[in-house]
Amino acid sequence: MTLNDSRILVVGAGLMGAGIAQVAAQAGHDVALFDARAGAAEAAKAKLAQTLEGLVAKGRLAADAAQAALARITPVDAPAPADLVIEAIVENLDVKRALFAELEALLPAEAVIATNTSSISVTALARGMQRPERLVGMHFFNPVPLMKLVEVVSGLGTAPEVAQAVFDLAQRWGKTAVHTRSTPGFIVNRIARPYYAEALMLLQDRAAAPELIDACLRAAGFRMGPCELMDLIGHDTNFAVTNSVFAANFFDRRFTPSLVQQELVDAGFLGRKSGRGFYRYPEGAPAVHHDEYPRPEAKRLVVHGQGVVADRFAAAFAQAERQPASDWVGLEADRTQIRLTDGRTAREIAAERDLRAPVIVFDLPLGAGSDLAYAKSGNVSDPVGWLAALGFKPVEMADVPGLVVARTIAMLINEAADAVQQGVCDEAGADSAMKLGVNYPAGPFEWLALWGADAVVALLDRLDSYYRGERYRVSPYLRAMPT
Ligand code: NAI
Repeated sequence: MTLNDSRILVVGAGLMGAGIAQVAAQAGHDVALFDARAGAAEAAKAKLAQTLEGLVAKGRLAADAAQAALARITPVDAPAPADLVIEAIVENLDVKRALFAELEALLPAEAVIATNTSSISVTALARGMQRPERLVGMHFFNPVPLMKLVEVVSGLGTAPEVAQAVFDLAQRWGKTAVHTRSTPGFIVNRIARPYYAEALMLLQDRAAAPELIDACLRAAGFRMGPCELMDLIGHDTNFAVTNSVFAANFFDRRFTPSLVQQELVDAGFLGRKSGRGFYRYPEGAPAVHHDEYPRPEAKRLVVHGQGVVADRFAAAFAQAERQPASDWVGLEADRTQIRLTDGRTAREIAAERDLRAPVIVFDLPLGAGSDLAYAKSGNVSDPVGWLAALGFKPVEMADVPGLVVARTIAMLINEAADAVQQGVCDEAGADSAMKLGVNYPAGPFEWLALWGADAVVALLDRLDSYYRGERYRVSPYLRAMPT
């Protein structure tokens, strides 16, 4: 079956519905737009006219294409028959179910109903429908015309050809569609949880300041750090999504919400929109302080291990010997070890060696340079010149396992691995979803290919034994991966 030439009814002319109507009309469909609030559909069309005019003025859209797209959108004051209905009304199970019952009485039997829900089970929404096989999730991202991803969500009863037809349609609209099963958070809102959760955990443990966490993750290639991103999304919204994923997973402790965020919500410090979250606005995050780092001296330098990080040390210190077979990666400068994190703290490593021999652990250097977190065992006097010589701006944090970037990326990989294990999506789907739905600089499986499954598993196992909770348990999919 195909929906490529379908007449479309969009129900709900709010933020998402208006964007969906725009994209469908620009792709050549006749679109009826309905909203329960009188005048809302007309108002949405009027606003769309301005948006399209703006695109024409900037030369991004031809005037006649804008005119034609606008002419294809018809505000209606009652749901009209269509081949495809895209529902973008209030996020409420009962209200959506009532709408679907009303629509089924009106629509031809072969019509498809697609819901843009971001958090309600498509399986549950289909219950009680006469034709549950015709309901599918079509989850767009905000702003709809700009965000490339569409999650095509199959409930237990969704017919595969219905999901495929919606998938093909989204692709025809220039989107990247990804199949997913109806499970809490679908792909993006599930795999993204650790991006926020690890930052909140570090804050709760007073391991680092928000601006340091943000700077390190920006240096790893993310457009925004987790703290500034939560401030942008709004702590109320972000906290609500976390709570819903937590509850929907029967309170699996891995998804436990954070008291740090609860406090912000309780205080009404919701982020940018209320003028204060982690940061105050309009100022935003304070700058991270960096010292000047003279190039340090040592009598003997040895580069340990292999790979990109070891090669960078070798390039920066031409006189260094190499020990590629070493079981750690980094630089030995006389008695000081400067080591890529393996999930142990600097103190743990120092305790296993000679306690007086200084240990510095540094974070996973994913980006080309800039801020890189490190922690040191108690007795290091000048730890950071060695890292600065590689082109980083070292920033000190508390000696916690996995620092900032390593633990965050490992947990994103782990969550993606669990999603694949459970048939929520495939590896390529997880990668596309995270790059296009939340603009990650790489997909979780792309990071995994760079870093190696054995290193990720080892790091998570060490976090798991350090914290002794359920949060860091390793996905069976990851553990079974060939090394
Ligand atoms: P919104 O509040 O901007 O728009 C919802 C519209 O639906 C309102 O105009 C309202 O009058 C109308 N409405 C409510 N009940 C109705 C009914 N029974 N029949 C017809 N119209 C009705 O909300 P928004 O943000 O556009 O969200 C809509 C849906 O899209 C929700 O299910 C939401 O979870 C989902 N979504 C939202 C995203 C976002 O970033 N805002 C992202 C992805 C999905």
